[in-house]
Amino acid sequence: MKVEFVSAPTSRLIASLVDQDALPSGLEQVLADAARASRFSGKPGQVFEGFADRGGRLIRVALAGLGEKNSKARLASLEKAGAGLVAKYLTSGEATLAIDFASSGLTASEAATVLLGARLRGWRHDAYRTKLSEDQKPSLTTIEAVGAPAGADVAWAAEAALATGVEFTRELVTEPANIIYPDSFVARCQARFAGTGLELTVLDEAEMRALGMGALLGVSQGSPRAPAILAIRWNGEAAGAKPTAFVGKGVTFDTGGISIKPAGGMEDMKWDMGGAGAVAGTMLALALRGAKANVVGVCGLVENMPDGNAQRPGDVVTSMSGQTIEVINTDAEGRLVLCDVLTWVQKVHAPARIVDLATLTGAMMIALGQEYAGVFANDDALADGLLAAGLASGDKLWRMPLAPEYDKLIDSPIADIKNVGPRFGGSITAAQFIQRFIDKGTPWAHLDIAGMVWADKPGTTWDKGATGYGVRLLDRYVRDNLEG
Ligand code: BES
Ligand code: MN
Ligand code: ZN
Repeated sequence: MKVEFVSAPTSRLIASLVDQDALPSGLEQVLADAARASRFSGKPGQVFEGFADRGGRLIRVALAGLGEKNSKARLASLEKAGAGLVAKYLTSGEATLAIDFASSGLTASEAATVLLGARLRGWRHDAYRTKLSEDQKPSLTTIEAVGAPAGADVAWAAEAALATGVEFTRELVTEPANIIYPDSFVARCQARFAGTGLELTVLDEAEMRALGMGALLGVSQGSPRAPAILAIRWNGEAAGAKPTAFVGKGVTFDTGGISIKPAGGMEDMKWDMGGAGAVAGTMLALALRGAKANVVGVCGLVENMPDGNAQRPGDVVTSMSGQTIEVINTDAEGRLVLCDVLTWVQKVHAPARIVDLATLTGAMMIALGQEYAGVFANDDALADGLLAAGLASGDKLWRMPLAPEYDKLIDSPIADIKNVGPRFGGSITAAQFIQRFIDKGTPWAHLDIAGMVWADKPGTTWDKGATGYGVRLLDRYVRDNLEG
C-alpha cells in the first residue's frame, strides 16, 4: 500500500474523518440524513458509505468515525478509523482511497497514526493463491492523504518504516516451514536488509559446536536442516554505548521432536519462529527510520523434528554456559535454543539489557488468551518501560511472576537443571529456566508471545493470520527509552 500526500484527491473514493456525533458541515443534506438513518455516529472505526454527484461526477463518499476527541484510547481510535476504511475498501474495486484531513483538526502525528492503521490493515499474503477471482483480489494500492497538516509527511516517514518492519515480520511468520527454515530465514533477511546499514553475522553449525552450544544443537539434531544464529546489529548511536539486545526464538517448525505433538493443529507450529520474526522486523524498522540507538537483534533458528538421530527424553546436554540440562520433554525446545543464544549474546555483545521474545508455552495462552503477552523480568524499570510501550503501541503486555519457589521446581536429579517443571505454572517455570542463563546484574525481560503471533480472526490492524506482534512494542520501547 502506497501513501501519497496531495492537495486535492484524484480518486472518486473520498473519506472524511468524523468526530463522535459531528457530521462534517459541508456534507450534502441527503448524505447527512442517510448517515443518521443508518445509525452512523462517528464511533471509532465505524464506516458509512454513500454516493453523491459532485460537479457531475459520481463520488463514493465514506465517513470514518474517530470517536470522542478526549478519549483515553485516542491513538487506537485513530488507527481504527484508517484500518476500518481499508478493511472496507481493500477488495472494493477501487485502486485509490483519498482520506481528507483538511477539516479533521488532527495533528501531524495523529494523521500519521490514521495512515499507519490504514497501511497495516491492507497487508495480505496472496503469493500462494493462484486461483483468486478478480473480485476477490485486493484492488486498493494507494492512499492519498489530502490536505494533511504540516509535518504529517515527516511523521509518516517514521510510521512507514515501522509498517515495513511489521510487514516483514508477518511475511516471515506466514511462510510455511518448507519455505522458511533456518538457512532460508537468514537468506530472506540478507536480501531484505541489503543497503539498510544493518550488519549481519551468521553462526553456522560448526561454529556453534566449537562454542559448546549443546542445548541448541540437541534440538536441531533430529532435523536435516542445519541450525543458524543470525545476529543483526544496528549502530544508531555514538560508538561505545552498550547495545540493547533483542533475542528471538526461531523454531521454524516445532513437531515436538520425540515427545511428538498431536496431529490436530500441528500446522500452527510453522509460526513457532514468531519471536525471531519480530526481532528481524524490529531491526528493519529501526534501520529504516534511522533510530538513534545501539541495538543487536539475535535470532536462534532451528527445526525440531523426530528422527532416528533426534535427541531422546532423558538425554543430558551441556549448554554453552557449562550448565548441564536433563531433557525431560523434547517439546520444551524453545528454552533449550534460547539458553545458548542468550549465553552467546552476553559473552559477545555485553548488552546493557536483554529482551527475549518467544512463542514459548501453550500455558501462556491458557493464562492470558490472545489479548496480552506475558512479561517476566528481573528488573522493574525494564518491565515498566515495556509495559508502557505495550499500552502505547497496542502490543499489550501483562507482568508475570518470578520467584525462587518456582525456580526449585526445575532442579534435576541427574543434571543442573531439567527442561520442564510440573504441569501447573508452566509459563513461569519456562521463564525460570531462561533466567538461570542470565548473568547477575544484567536487566532482562522475557516475553512469552505464544498467544499473540497468529490470529484466527481479523483484528483492528490485521487480517486473520500473522499479526506482526512485537515489532510495534519494541520500536516504541526504543523510541521512548533509548532515543533522545
Ligand atoms: N512452541 C510450543 C508452545 C506453543 C504451543 C506456542 C501452542 C504456541 C501455541 C513450545 O515449544 C511447546 O511445545 N511448549 C510445551 C512445553 C511443555 C512440553 C512443558 C507446551 O506448551 O505444551
Ligand atoms: Mn515445543
Ligand atoms: Zn516450540
